[in-house]
Amino acid sequence: VNGVLEIPVVFNVLYRTSAENISQAQLQSQIDVLNKDFNAQNSDYNTANNPYSSVRANVGIRFVLDRVIRKSTTKTSWGTNDAMKKTSTGGIAPTSPTTKLNYWICTIGGGILGYAQFPGGSSATDGVVADSRYTGTTGTATYPFNLGRTGTHEVGHWMNLRHIWGDTTCGNDLVSDTPVHNTANYGVPAVGHRSTCSGTPLEMYMNYMDYTDDRGMYMFSNGQKSRILATFSTSGPRASFR
Ligand code: ARG
Ligand code: ZN
Ligand code: CA
Repeated sequence: VNGVLEIPVVFNVLYRTSAENISQAQLQSQIDVLNKDFNAQNSDYNTANNPYSSVRANVGIRFVLDRVIRKSTTKTSWGTNDAMKKTSTGGIAPTSPTTKLNYWICTIGGGILGYAQFPGGSSATDGVVADSRYTGTTGTATYPFNLGRTGTHEVGHWMNLRHIWGDTTCGNDLVSDTPVHNTANYGVPAVGHRSTCSGTPLEMYMNYMDYTDDRGMYMFSNGQKSRILATFSTSGPRASFR
């Protein structure tokens, strides 16, 4: 490709109530957040007292709203078994999943904000899923997940990023410039919060791949950027998006 990678986004909206049938403006506000967060243009990028400011990354990937598909349903919750991605189970099949990011908006249930498929899986289920209330920054977007960071986090997974704590106590996220964390952080941890894992590093709770509230997360690291770019490289699992 010549120039920046630009990812077309197809929103697949499954709604039972009119509140779940979120507006084009709310969907566009999610695209706007992705464009800010993946290009170091988020207004909180320069938050004071960030001990990890030297490894902050401008990932440099753009997103464009390609199309919105809407479907009325009688389901109150969809779970995490990909039912929303199949017409046979009342969902919406993905549009051109090898060249477009499919982004399903539906009520998952069980307190789950969103989930994503990592690179290398079936194209029939490829993409990200998020609850309408945790999408974008306007309309029904609900505090403390009202700044579109669920989308940033899930798209991070879709681009091959792991949770910063490595999904186990003092686990490994396969990125060398992110510190070892005990586990997920919730809310907004205090400045100076440390891990009790080996070396007791300051935790990078401000990373999009933690579970911090939306207002407390504002960066990817350079190591995460490398992992993302490898995913889209000519030999990477998402080379078809180039
Ligand atoms: N997969 C995570 C969950 O469902 C998403 C966490 C998003 N975090 C956020 N601050 N928006 O819980
Ligand atoms: Zn996650
Ligand atoms: Ca690490």
